[in-house]
Amino acid sequence: MTYRVAVIGGGAIAEDHLIALAGMEQAAAVAVADLVEERASALAARYGGGSSGISAYTDYKEMIEREKPDIAIVTLPHFLHREAALFCIETGVHVLLEKPMALDVDQCDEIIAAAQQRGVSLMVGHTQHYIAENRTAKRIIDEGSLGTLVMINDVRNLYYFREQRPAWFLQKALAGGGIMMNLGSHSVDKITWLAGSAVRSVKAVTSHYGGKGDIEGSGMAFLHLANGIPATVSQSGYKGFSRNETEIVFTEGMLRLETGKALWISRGGEYERVEIDPQEAPFVLQLLDLIARIEAGANGGLSAVDGSADASLSSADALPGPPLEHSRHAVAVVLAMYASHLSGQEEAVEHGFA
Ligand SMILES: NC(=O)c1ccc[n+]([C@@H]2O[C@H](COP(=O)([O-])OP(=O)(O)OC[C@H]3O[C@@H](n4cnc5c(N)ncnc54)[C@H](O)[C@@H]3O)[C@@H](O)[C@H]2O)c1
Repeated sequence: MTYRVAVIGGGAIAEDHLIALAGMEQAAAVAVADLVEERASALAARYGGGSSGISAYTDYKEMIEREKPDIAIVTLPHFLHREAALFCIETGVHVLLEKPMALDVDQCDEIIAAAQQRGVSLMVGHTQHYIAENRTAKRIIDEGSLGTLVMINDVRNLYYFREQRPAWFLQKALAGGGIMMNLGSHSVDKITWLAGSAVRSVKAVTSHYGGKGDIEGSGMAFLHLANGIPATVSQSGYKGFSRNETEIVFTEGMLRLETGKALWISRGGEYERVEIDPQEAPFVLQLLDLIARIEAGANGGLSAVDGSADASLSSADALPGPPLEHSRHAVAVVLAMYASHLSGQEEAVEHGFA
């Protein structure tokens, strides 16, 4: 079967999903919606060269009702994630929802509960789990040849206030936060996945010198993971040298992960480049996980809501893709960073995962 996919939102990341779909046999894009008509029609024209084509809409609800897709990929601004995900779920459409899952934990719970009640599969687009360098690092960590995992330091610098950035990213009410919510949530996701542990508590300081909008332009956070491992997340959105590096320290060596670029290993001497395991493109792998989740009849690992594992699965390990409680946790950790900045205290993170 070829799953019929509709894309909601025709901005920057929608194009990555459409590129992935264009090369897949298991799924095909049938429609795209954007408030800005030219964006939807340009994407439909660019990626709709196949026999059936892609239809363009300005009203995503009309698109979902008319096209009745199997899957909707929601690539809207953060404040619209809840509304769009709930609409698709209630219409019986499986959902791949871009990160961060929603603006707060209550919204995440509402979306998770709706998917459970309606019996559709839901997955959040945690791209970090699908990037080749990250997956090779995860394999090396899990093999254990570097000894005991000791700590993780994650550093990202990216000019956040550039002219081309859509305005909604700079408004806290619409984006849920600034660089920490948008990019720091990737770091939290990466760290908790690599370390195999939720975050227990957070101490963080943010700054607000961007001069545009009302979001933070930098943040530094100390994360205490539930398995005892400490991690730091440092994000700067001010001008400077772009960098995205995660150093993972073990008792017998270190990994230096440049996500999307390279992976380096040291067993006591200089860093040496690691050959990256061959794989499909990240956005293809991500969608294949959602399809596997659909075919397993799984919602997405809903233990966070009702205290029990997804009834359709024999074990949580069998769930394709990141569990929803992991997605909810990433939001909870970023919000704990903001709370810690305001309180000046270390803040507990209540919504963990097993
Ligand atoms: N996984 C990743 O690596 C990754 C990378 C970039 C962005 N993202 C996420 O993807 C989402 C979108 O980010 P983006 O960079 O593409 O943003 P964007 O602003 O470029 O795109 C959003 C699009 O939604 C459209 N839109 C707004 N309201 C709408 C509505 N009611 N109906 C239809 N269309 C509407 C806008 O016109 C815009 O074209 C965010 O959640 C972001 O965090 C994820």
